[in-house]
Amino acid sequence: MKIIVAPDNRLNQVSKKIDIVDNTTISILDQMLECMYKNNGIGLAAPQVGILKRLVVVDCNDKSNNKKPLKLINPEIIKLSTENSEFEEGCLSLPTQYAKVKRPTEIIIKFQNVKGVFCKEVFSGLEATCIQHEIDHLDGKLFVDHISKLKKNIIIKKLIKLKKKNKK
Ligand code: NI
Repeated sequence: MKIIVAPDNRLNQVSKKIDIVDNTTISILDQMLECMYKNNGIGLAAPQVGILKRLVVVDCNDKSNNKKPLKLINPEIIKLSTENSEFEEGCLSLPTQYAKVKRPTEIIIKFQNVKGVFCKEVFSGLEATCIQHEIDHLDGKLFVDHISKLKKNIIIKKLIKLKKKNKK
C-alpha cells in the first residue's frame, strides 16, 4: 500500500459504505494497519491508500510494545460533546505539516467490527480527535479544512513544492 499525498483529487472524494464484511475487508484493514505502523502514524483511512471505502484504522497507544489497534468499518459519529479540545494534528497524506485543530473532546460512534457486528463506543481525548480526523477522510475532508484559508493555502503550497522536489 502506498500513501497518497495531498493535493490529490482522490483525497477529496466521499467514500462508499461497506455492504458486506468479508475476508477482503479484513485483509484491507490488516494491510492498512501495517502501512500505518510502518509510517509511524496513529490513524489511517482507506482513501489515503486509494481505496474509496469507509474503513479506518487507529492506534493511539504510544508504546510500540503495547499495541491497541482499532479497526472501524462504516464508522459514524452519533454524538459530539459540546466541550472542545485542541490538538496539533498531522496527517500521513500531508507529510511534515502540522496545525492546531479544535474538535469536540468526546464522541460516541457506531461502527461495525471485523465480524460485521454493529457496535457503539465512547472515545475521548487524542483517540476522539484521531477518529474524527479519520472519518473526515471518508468524507473527502482533511485537517487543513478546519483551519483558516490562509494557513491551508500555505500548507498546500509547501506540499506542492515537496511533490515537485520528490519528482526530480
Ligand atoms: Ni489524515
